[in-house]
Amino acid sequence: MKLAVIGTGYVGLVSGVCFTLNGNHVICVDKDQEKISKLNRMESPIYEPGIEALIEMNLREGRLSFSADLQDSVRRSDIVILAVGTPSLPNGEADLRYIEGAAAEIGQAMEGYKIIMTKSTVPVGTNEKIRSMIAAHTNHPFDIVSAPEFLREGSAIQDTLHPDRIIIGLDNPALEDTMRELHKGFTDNVFVTDIRSAEMIKYASNAFLATKISFINEIANICEKVGADVTEVAQGMGMDRRIGSSFLQAGIGYGGSCFPKDTNALIQIAGNVDYEFKLLESVVEVNKGQRFMIISKLHESLGSLRGAVIGIWGLAFKPNTDDVREAPAREIVEALVAEGATVKLYDPIAADNFRQQYDHPNLRWCGLPEEAAAGSDAVCLLTDWSVFKDINLHKLAESMRRQVLIDGRNVYSKEQIEGTGLTYHSVGRPQMGGLSGYSADAVGVV
Ligand code: UGA
Repeated sequence: MKLAVIGTGYVGLVSGVCFTLNGNHVICVDKDQEKISKLNRMESPIYEPGIEALIEMNLREGRLSFSADLQDSVRRSDIVILAVGTPSLPNGEADLRYIEGAAAEIGQAMEGYKIIMTKSTVPVGTNEKIRSMIAAHTNHPFDIVSAPEFLREGSAIQDTLHPDRIIIGLDNPALEDTMRELHKGFTDNVFVTDIRSAEMIKYASNAFLATKISFINEIANICEKVGADVTEVAQGMGMDRRIGSSFLQAGIGYGGSCFPKDTNALIQIAGNVDYEFKLLESVVEVNKGQRFMIISKLHESLGSLRGAVIGIWGLAFKPNTDDVREAPAREIVEALVAEGATVKLYDPIAADNFRQQYDHPNLRWCGLPEEAAAGSDAVCLLTDWSVFKDINLHKLAESMRRQVLIDGRNVYSKEQIEGTGLTYHSVGRPQMGGLSGYSADAVGVV
């Protein structure tokens, strides 16, 4: 089949590239000419493991192309896939301006029948609006399909090629075979439903996963007070197949471009029909507070942070991505700067992106985790990049001015910490080692 994918963000680029692998011809479209030129040079505008090799292979083999000309791409395709962004408006609602712009252009371009498939995350009822927007610009026939995307950044290719399920929302049953054919080889687990339910499945899935995270984070906070270990608790809970073990990793909360945006949008969707989604409101509230446990634990160990030197390991919202959108690191670093600390930052991939959004004279940018730790009063691990798992903790302790390690992702085991001399705080697990309250001010730290 011939496809045009509108939008070359994570969803558009990864699904466009993956659809070439099961025999389709794909044009990835973006109005940002600079992005298109980059892609034609086989450089990915996003960091996603494996994507550049697939772009190169499919460009060379002629199944993939890139274009800034939406209308021409639409005319050359059977199926048009909408994968443009739906960022948050100030009130939390999804901003549909890119969807609306693309829909109008699709309508203007059409010279015959098309299938319009929406992969962007859109509020319930949006596909029907898309239908009206396109119909306002064309008399040619077309069908609308909702096919929400469930890929995760960092494992996007694997998630697209081997998804747990594919959700297809449609109102013309004749399209079912075409949709199965389009996704052939990915999974046989295709769930066909109506358009509104498909739209809701996406929001409900992200909201449920966010709920699991906030739930385990609250259990972690209680574990700390009652002397239990949340990693043991999560493992024991996860053995119940009704609960499952995934997304029960306690930490400093979720970030990224999806969970924060989609939970707020679902609260708004509910609000628009006079329903107060109290549970989800609490999930969001818990998540907002969770990151600041890093600051509380620093106070607990060091007292005042004025003049303290704090090493930060990890700026991306999760490992294997350079994405810093809604990353807990941002507010943590800002709070440290506001309290008068000097902050030494390290991230293997995301430092440049972070620095573009936030810089300050109190920040020191480091090329190695050891450099960020050297001379610090505390190191805070905020993203569980694998590089941190193999750090020599004995050497680390020796290089620090005060031996405090705050592990916001529960990366280290008791065995790794024992004997290092580190005072170790993690999330929902007993503290190890001990450093009595100390104030950087009191010892005249620069
Ligand atoms: C999420 C969903 O997992 C995807 O299914 C969905 O397609 C995507 O949003 C989207 O809507 O586009 P993503 O944001 O890439 O994917 O990242 P996740 O791996 O889900 O992690 C989200 C956040 O939750 C990260 O900050 C991560 O550190 C945190 N997390 C995850 C936890 O704190 N604990 C966990 O147990 C799992």
